[in-house]
Amino acid sequence: MSYFPRDRAWHPPALTPSYKTSVLRAPQQALLSMPTTASEETGPVFGHDLLGPDDNDLIRNFRRAGGEAIGQRIVVYGRVLDETGRPVPGTLLEFWQANAGGRYRHKNEGYRAALDPNFGGCGRTITDERGAYHFRTVKPGAYPWPNGVNDWRPAHIHFSVFGHAFAQRLVTQMYFEGDPMIWQCPIVRTIPDRSAVEQLVAALDRQATIPMDSLAYKFDIVLRGRRSTMFENRMEGN
Ligand SMILES: [Fe+2]
Repeated sequence: MSYFPRDRAWHPPALTPSYKTSVLRAPQQALLSMPTTASEETGPVFGHDLLGPDDNDLIRNFRRAGGEAIGQRIVVYGRVLDETGRPVPGTLLEFWQANAGGRYRHKNEGYRAALDPNFGGCGRTITDERGAYHFRTVKPGAYPWPNGVNDWRPAHIHFSVFGHAFAQRLVTQMYFEGDPMIWQCPIVRTIPDRSAVEQLVAALDRQATIPMDSLAYKFDIVLRGRRSTMFENRMEGN
């Protein structure tokens, strides 16, 4: 067994004024260590039987009147791995995203792009014994957001990864290979290490495409150590 110390340069500093929201969110006092309690470590937990058959199919899981979501159909797949490359089975993954036009189904959304009546924008799945997961969706569009005068987010999918207890949750974002907007995004640019950003970019996988149906993108999530994914709720390096 090897111990991999956390590389604190991997995560952005908490205070990154070019990402405006971080100014109010960043701690202004010294951090306190808060030991977890028994209830946080033991429950509540989710049940595997709570997942529905369409939960990992965003093209259909919100559809109305038999329609399907509009957009470029894609499969996103990969594995959840620990720092030594071992698979992590039984992990609940949740994902959420804008529709193909870049619009979220949210009451505070301010972008003019249209909602898709057949697209909800969220789903979930559980990793199998190989740590593998997959889901089907449409490629999200880029969208503007109120940060600078005219800032846009690159196409992305948000991920939440649950461990075996409710308090063990990590959150990150996945981007798409070849998207020039990744490198001008104020949120992405808070990540100091270019290779950390590159680990958030899913690779187009021509071998996994489905002819006349879907493109495929591969996105592995690594939970700790030198190859760790950059998790946005772990910026203080807990
Ligand atoms: Fe987003």
